[in-house]
Amino acid sequence: MRKIVTIIGARPQIIKAAAISRAIRNHFPGRIREVIVHTGQHYDQSMSQVFIDELGVPRPDYNLGIGSASHGRQTAGMITGIEAVLEKEKPDYLVVYGDTNSTLAGAVAASKMRIPVAHIEAGLRSFNKSMPEEINRILCDHVSTLLFTPTRTGFDNLVREGFSPDSKPPYTADNPAVFHCGDVMFDNSLFFKTIAAEKSSVMEKLELKGKDFVLATIHRDNNTDNPERLTAIFSALNRLASGSGLRVVLPLHPRTRKMMETNLEQKLLEEVRKNPLLQLVPPVSFLDMIQLESYCSLVVTDSGGVQKEAYFFEKPCVILRPETEWKEIVDAGCGLIADADGDKIVADCMHYLESSDRLSFPPVFGDGKASEFICRQLLGGG
Ligand code: UD1
Ligand code: UDP
Repeated sequence: MRKIVTIIGARPQIIKAAAISRAIRNHFPGRIREVIVHTGQHYDQSMSQVFIDELGVPRPDYNLGIGSASHGRQTAGMITGIEAVLEKEKPDYLVVYGDTNSTLAGAVAASKMRIPVAHIEAGLRSFNKSMPEEINRILCDHVSTLLFTPTRTGFDNLVREGFSPDSKPPYTADNPAVFHCGDVMFDNSLFFKTIAAEKSSVMEKLELKGKDFVLATIHRDNNTDNPERLTAIFSALNRLASGSGLRVVLPLHPRTRKMMETNLEQKLLEEVRKNPLLQLVPPVSFLDMIQLESYCSLVVTDSGGVQKEAYFFEKPCVILRPETEWKEIVDAGCGLIADADGDKIVADCMHYLESSDRLSFPPVFGDGKASEFICRQLLGGG
């Protein structure tokens, strides 16, 4: 029996963990034992528990309750808590997802204890170290033993950084293995699509009819915490909602909800609140989110996961960042980088609203079985 400790903490990690927990339950029962540690990075019901309840993630064995703090304090608290769990549990692997502070904390704690780290969603790079996530992913990759990249670009990035594509077992942090295996989020979107269609009533709740809306999310710190950028983005969404005649549905991350109050001028804030076509709603559950993604006509986002899901559901995506790690989406012509340039955001959205029927979405995120592949590698390959 292989024992793994899985670290979750932020919303997208709970979602990604659902794919691996499901693969263990369905294909490797009795062969992999998973102990789940929730760092508490996200703690609102709508940012955490809703996903555990809805997606079949086992109840975390530990919740460190770290909560929100500065990067240093938050990460340090997590490292201390994870170290204590690892001392007790002595797992064969520590499994981390993505690029949050919870990911970094897990990688630091385990690698210093010589517990091999398996990094799921390895190799992604924005080449922009002003992003905290870029620092987290580089550091995590470079102490990991098993690196699972969702895309070819991720694999190539790691090879460029000196990882050998031909390493042979036994794998260690000094002789790591790099696998291009596809994206566990793609596994999830295939699995939950039908369930969402059956169970989600979000379309009725928000009084949406098919395709008559744009789905938007904003939460990156360089957007929320910068008044100029946040103003440009909200003004653009406000204009889009008035100009296109389509509704813009914006499930608000708590960070954005807070920062709007301080970083938008009162006049814009009131316009945004009064615009009947700009619908600000609390964060939605995953089943509701993928239902919205399957029905909308366009996605506007600075989220990594939502960019990908737009692609899985064959929707064009306007990206509110200066660059993206998900290069394949832009290369396929299905994503446009608008950054926080208000005119470009509106122009790119209008472009896609007028021409999205001409797009095609080549399969670049795997075959929907990335989670099973990852579990097999955790068991020693073969
Ligand atoms: C974090 C990740 C980011 C990821 C995002 C997913 C880091 C550095 N950032 O960003 O990579 O894309 O999660 O959503 O790890 N808050 C609440 N309730 C909560 C959680 C957060 O109110 O349940 C508020 C707090 O004011 C907090 C702020 O949101 O200070 C930011 O939360 P934090 O977890 O630090 O970063 P995110 O912006 O969520
Ligand atoms: N998501 C959700 N409800 C929301 C917004 C996002 O379920 O209101 C899901 C989304 O479908 C995706 C994940 O959260 O699976 C993306 O997380 P987020 O945007 O917070 O972080 P990122 O992917 O940028 O790290």
